[in-house]
Amino acid sequence: MTTKLAAERESSEADRRGREVEEQMTDEEKFSLIISVLGEVPGSAAAGTRDPRIPDDVTNMSAGYTPGVPRLGIPAIQSSDASMGITNPGYRPDDPGATAFPSLIALGSSFNPHLVRQGGEAIAREARARGFNVQLAGGCNLARDPRNGRNFEYFSEDPYLSAVLAAEQVNGIQSQGVVSTLKHYTLNCNETNRHWLDAIIDPDAHRESDLLTFQIAIERSQPGAIMSGYNKVNGEYAGGNHHLLNDVLKGAWGYPGYVMSDWGATPDWRFALHGLDQESGIQGDTLLWGKQPFTDELRDAYARGELPQERLSDMVRRILRSLFAVGVDQWGTAPEVDMELHDQIALEGARQGIVLLENDGVLPIPTDEPLKVAVIGGYAQQGIVSGTGSGAVAPVGGFAGVIKIGGAGVMGRHRNLFLFPPSPLEELAKALPQAQLDFDPGYTPAEAALTAKRSDLVIVFGIRVEGEGFDSADLSLPWGQDAVIEAVADANPNTIVVLETGNPVSMPWRDKVRAIVEAWYPGQAGGRAIAEVLTGAVNPSGRLPVTFPESLEQTPRPELPGLGTPWGTPVTIEYGEGAEVGYRWFARTGATPTYAFGHGLSYTTFAYGDLEVTGGDTVTASFTVTNTGDRAGADVPQLYLTEAAGEQRQRLLGFERVQLQPGESRRLTLTAEPRLLARFDGTAGQWRITTGTYQVAVGRSADSRELVAETTLTDALFGS
Ligand code: BGC
Repeated sequence: MTTKLAAERESSEADRRGREVEEQMTDEEKFSLIISVLGEVPGSAAAGTRDPRIPDDVTNMSAGYTPGVPRLGIPAIQSSDASMGITNPGYRPDDPGATAFPSLIALGSSFNPHLVRQGGEAIAREARARGFNVQLAGGCNLARDPRNGRNFEYFSEDPYLSAVLAAEQVNGIQSQGVVSTLKHYTLNCNETNRHWLDAIIDPDAHRESDLLTFQIAIERSQPGAIMSGYNKVNGEYAGGNHHLLNDVLKGAWGYPGYVMSDWGATPDWRFALHGLDQESGIQGDTLLWGKQPFTDELRDAYARGELPQERLSDMVRRILRSLFAVGVDQWGTAPEVDMELHDQIALEGARQGIVLLENDGVLPIPTDEPLKVAVIGGYAQQGIVSGTGSGAVAPVGGFAGVIKIGGAGVMGRHRNLFLFPPSPLEELAKALPQAQLDFDPGYTPAEAALTAKRSDLVIVFGIRVEGEGFDSADLSLPWGQDAVIEAVADANPNTIVVLETGNPVSMPWRDKVRAIVEAWYPGQAGGRAIAEVLTGAVNPSGRLPVTFPESLEQTPRPELPGLGTPWGTPVTIEYGEGAEVGYRWFARTGATPTYAFGHGLSYTTFAYGDLEVTGGDTVTASFTVTNTGDRAGADVPQLYLTEAAGEQRQRLLGFERVQLQPGESRRLTLTAEPRLLARFDGTAGQWRITTGTYQVAVGRSADSRELVAETTLTDALFGS
């Protein structure tokens, strides 16, 4: 509470200063603050087009540069992407490289807000060392579709989990005096033709899902900026969506910060009237729409009186107050960056993010036996796979390899298989000193099978490059890897599969293998973390933040509208599942997924008991978790709503990650955020809890009900 009050005080002080400074600015200065300019990007469409607004002495190319106003103490704004660390490869050829942290879906699997916060702090320290004062972080779109190429840049399919984790990334970043965004507001849940995508959703269901994610994350972290999505929502571009920006974000929620567009997502100056405060990366708009609307057009509209003076002032004040609120204007000398510490944070994230999906006892691999171990495929001899696009990080010392993939649209040139050193093979060799390791690239099924056959044990890697600008056409692994895994498993019954993917994949070989590990894109320390988990030095503790469907037939959209249409084709996607995203959809349809949301195995076992539940305004549940095995390990017990006043409705109400020694017990108490128990009543513009019996369950995943209880909630209409 104290922190919230302190934040509010700082925030109102920042608002006051924002107003005062804005009043002293010339119109010219104001207009220069409401745009940002993309740094010169070698090899891109912007190459050689260094914008005159970037002074010659600025060598640190950013995703967005906005000149400051030195006479008023306003620093230049320099932003970089930050989903997984400081980006972008190619922006700054002389950059020594940044820490490549695990992808957000991996951190989502940790269910560990503390760890995400540490990652945010580390990202901000590396940002400050480079002069970046705005971080384009906090990706919290919901993983609605397992084909979405950018799910690795988002935390989960669940609003509450995503909100809690995104807020901690923002809190970590802003605690170091750097502004952070939350992005992409909202419903930017597919990449296919995203600039022309109209995302259709029921407005109340939207409030209960993607908007609730932003709402809770904003309340918990007061981000300085919100980045709007590329897409339209219910017919209006997100960046110019009066309802979403003016009515909901700035109106109902009272958001005081600024809204920046995504890069190349401002086709019209009128977006300023509908709530957009800053046009980002304006060269992107030239590329897409042939103009930069917040420059000439907006000035003309101002001269004609169509952009009211108060609105221009409001845009500027919002930007200024967000800079002042975190102290961007008060920076002293940059703090020393302890790259060793950041590597440890990256390693801990990778460890906690790896999910053991399947294990018949073959894992952990004994480290004291002279086993013949085949390591097959996935460039495991070279490095760890990263997601691609604006979030990709160039690590210290460079990539272990960059393999061009390419594709249509503006992101085609950025679509690469990036590999981080050290490789899983090197790390496995260290972790298995007695073993004889034999590598096969998985070039053909037949060749791989030969290596598998002469081994005691096989570790086969399945990888998929996913990234910005592209949705996957299906859930399979590319480059014939399913056939390789199948052939290997046929040749050797002791096969373990390790996946490095950004989404769930299909597993036609599932019944033939003894263990399956989902490592996601685990970042620069991923090779070591994989080796530690496989050999038991680390007890796996990741839990799935997304449902693994059996097939696309089980998902709300077996066919993805627009998939395969040429770049530039308008696409409409109806998110008809509304708020019933992911596990909620499975609860609604009764389908059984391959692996449920929340699932993840350990080398120890946990038992739950003594559930006590109280009701009234919200649900509070207390229960005991005990490590019943013989190894220390972490568990993530989950509290779900399963029925609400006679209606089937599943919602994750709470979770807590607990580390327990063998035999140790802990009593946990989880209190539900009341909006998770409510429906949004669009007519009242408020949240409504209906009197009745509410059933909750404590489980290991969305489809496990270890302890069940009922309680009564009373009628309530609240919030906005
Ligand atoms: C992405 C944003 C990113 C921006 C700046 C866009 O392509 O959608 O997430 O922050 O580029 O690099």
